[in-house]
Amino acid sequence: MFPRILPVFFVIYAAKCTLRTDQQFWTELAENELAEALQVKWNLGVAKNVILFVGDGMGPNTVTATRIYKGGESHRLVYEKFPHVGLLKTYSANKMVPDSSCSATALFCGVKANQETIGVDASVKHKDCSASLRPEARLKSLASIALKAGKSAGFVTTMRVTHATPGPIYAHSADRKWECEDKMPASAAACKDIARQLVEDWPGKDLQVILGGGRQVLVSNSTGTKEDPLDTWSCIRKDGKDLIKEYQKDKHDRGLRYSYVSNNKQLKGFDVDQTDYLLGIFANGHLKYEHERNKGPEGMPSISDMVEAAIKVLRKNKNGYFLMVEGGNVDMAHHRGWAKRAVDESAALEGAVRLAAAHTDPRDTLLVVTSDHTHTLSINGYPYRGTDIFGIAQTSKYDNVNYTTLSYGTGGPGSMKYSVKTEHNRTVAAREDPGVNTDSFDYQQIAAITLDENSHGGGDVVVYARGPHAHLFHNVHEQHYVYHAISYAAKMGAYSGTSAIYTNISLLAIAAWVAICIMK
Ligand SMILES: *[C@@H]1O[C@H](CO)[C@@H](O)[C@H](O)[C@H]1NC(C)=O
Ligand SMILES: *[C@@H]1O[C@H](CO)[C@@H](O)[C@H](O)[C@H]1NC(C)=O
Repeated sequence: MFPRILPVFFVIYAAKCTLRTDQQFWTELAENELAEALQVKWNLGVAKNVILFVGDGMGPNTVTATRIYKGGESHRLVYEKFPHVGLLKTYSANKMVPDSSCSATALFCGVKANQETIGVDASVKHKDCSASLRPEARLKSLASIALKAGKSAGFVTTMRVTHATPGPIYAHSADRKWECEDKMPASAAACKDIARQLVEDWPGKDLQVILGGGRQVLVSNSTGTKEDPLDTWSCIRKDGKDLIKEYQKDKHDRGLRYSYVSNNKQLKGFDVDQTDYLLGIFANGHLKYEHERNKGPEGMPSISDMVEAAIKVLRKNKNGYFLMVEGGNVDMAHHRGWAKRAVDESAALEGAVRLAAAHTDPRDTLLVVTSDHTHTLSINGYPYRGTDIFGIAQTSKYDNVNYTTLSYGTGGPGSMKYSVKTEHNRTVAAREDPGVNTDSFDYQQIAAITLDENSHGGGDVVVYARGPHAHLFHNVHEQHYVYHAISYAAKMGAYSGTSAIYTNISLLAIAAWVAICIMK
């Protein structure tokens, strides 16, 4: 009896130790935060470099769950220690709740757009090819204005490089699905697919870093393997083009030094000194989830591995760089109702932010971490502090059935955890018991409303910032403000040379005043 009880006491004792509740503990937590807050100074320098992280679908509840997953309720994620935060309103030109292409257009191109359009303003309706060809509808991205300012530019994504979030960095399309020619209707014959825009058009062809998935949209008749299957939901190129070869030919013909890599070994091994342009395509479709990718030499890289390689190439430019990093599998997992996978992907993105924070200097590099939209994830009451975020919250006294701490507002058929029963001559919904495996990666949390899949949410997302002009993120902002704030901080686009103008104006004013004084 005794030896069996002993470990239980140890567990209780350990739990008590780690979960302090005494006054001193809370006071120390708060005093540390106060000391930190009193240190905050505005950094009025120019952002030579900018790295913009987008956790796709990483709403505030996903971030809270990530924090608890990684270290408990009092833990702080690396970007939660950034000195400046704000909120972003994510509605689009035509929807209260956006998709990832119009929200990426807002973030990277500075205006709100219609759902499912890429890099074009709201004069372009979804699927309206001819409207998207009008030059005045086509938007310039942060990558375009960074290149114009003499900086390097590029992006890293765990999605296809032609997907909704990276798309607006370089493409203009009336439909996010036009990633390759095979998904384009006859009415879009005059429009170029997104993959070709990346390789053939500006600014895509001048991007120094392109890392992600999407071989099947770049190379005709790509074949899948068990490890790296074709994504039959998305476009599969069939027009005979090999855009990876075209990329290489273009760089070769222009005398530019490039590397093409397609697995972990090559990404670790490319010659940074001899590489000014880096293309890495690691999968037919999206990259695998972090917890199930092959970490060996033939496998796919983590988001941190890609960010590390990107920074190595981009920082060679003495004028600085703009880099966009998308953690896209947060969104993919949420769509399928896999909260633990989504949170694990969000944790992987935090790892990439940690790496970037360590490899850059806050004096000259602006780091911005945000999301494009939320999901309908909720954190339900009232689990005990210190319990598993993927565990059971409580039992409902109305049906005597357990419920999980995490659940969704909307979800696919796998999240429809109701059956029917007859009670008092009425047919009612009976909630299924969540069982004991709610902590598994494959567990789909219950959703209130059944749809094809979990939908996006319309709540605000948080924006965290560190570095020059990070204080421009300070209250509740429009999502497309991010483009303007970054342009200002890095003196790009409409704000290139702003400080020079202001300095000149003040010098002129002083000179005029002195002249007037002398004349008097
Ligand atoms: C159920 O319906 C039957 C027949 O319609 C009726 O006799 C019975 O009283 C009802 N029971 C309840 C609990 O309403
Ligand atoms: C309900 O959850 C508790 C843990 O909170 C667990 O001990 C219990 O076995 C669960 N009930 C069922 C029916 O699974």
